[in-house]
Amino acid sequence: MKLFLDTANVDHVAEVAAWGVLDGVTTNPTLVAKEGKDFKETVLKMCALVPCVSAQVTATDAEGMKKQAVEYAGWHKHVVVKVPMTTEGLKVLAFCRQKGIRTNCTLVFSLAQAVLAAKAGASILSPFVGRIDDAGESGMALIAEIMQAWSHYKFATEVLVASTRHTEHVTEAAKLGAHICTIPYEVFLKLPKHQLTDTGLDRFQKDWEKVQKN
Ligand code: G3P
Repeated sequence: MKLFLDTANVDHVAEVAAWGVLDGVTTNPTLVAKEGKDFKETVLKMCALVPCVSAQVTATDAEGMKKQAVEYAGWHKHVVVKVPMTTEGLKVLAFCRQKGIRTNCTLVFSLAQAVLAAKAGASILSPFVGRIDDAGESGMALIAEIMQAWSHYKFATEVLVASTRHTEHVTEAAKLGAHICTIPYEVFLKLPKHQLTDTGLDRFQKDWEKVQKN
């Protein structure tokens, strides 16, 4: 499973990329607004660190989105254009497929939307599991449905588990065979941690100190 960081903070991307486990980054207008930095500059800095950076269009009509898609894709070969799951967005996904522009279809909340995004040629599709959980349903149940459907066909579209809120979303995504999971920085920092690793290392260190004293 590929691991992405869900952020518009370049320092956070550099920190996690240094671990050697980061396959990409997803951004969205909310995350970009939170950092308050120049969008293009941010995307370019991230492209220097990882091979896949999702940059979201902000127009809502197909023509406007197509224009932005071509512009963003021209910034760097690592850019993946993020397009919302609307009927206008489907037109943009099909256009990008023809132009050889990689896309990430965002705001996916149902299997029907996932199938349409794949048919329109999205490279990646992003179901928002945390927001489904917030609405009182199971986000991971949708991922299970999509992965089951994907097992019947040869869709090239990768399933990216988005809107993750805790480490269990990440481990469940792996169990279900999702292709990608995007993870907020605070959750990513928890992934390498285990209490038994800490106590185990502490014991090794203490025992080694005894050896040094002999
Ligand atoms: O990748 C999509 C993600 O940024 C949305 O997360 O926490 O705003 O639902 P959230």
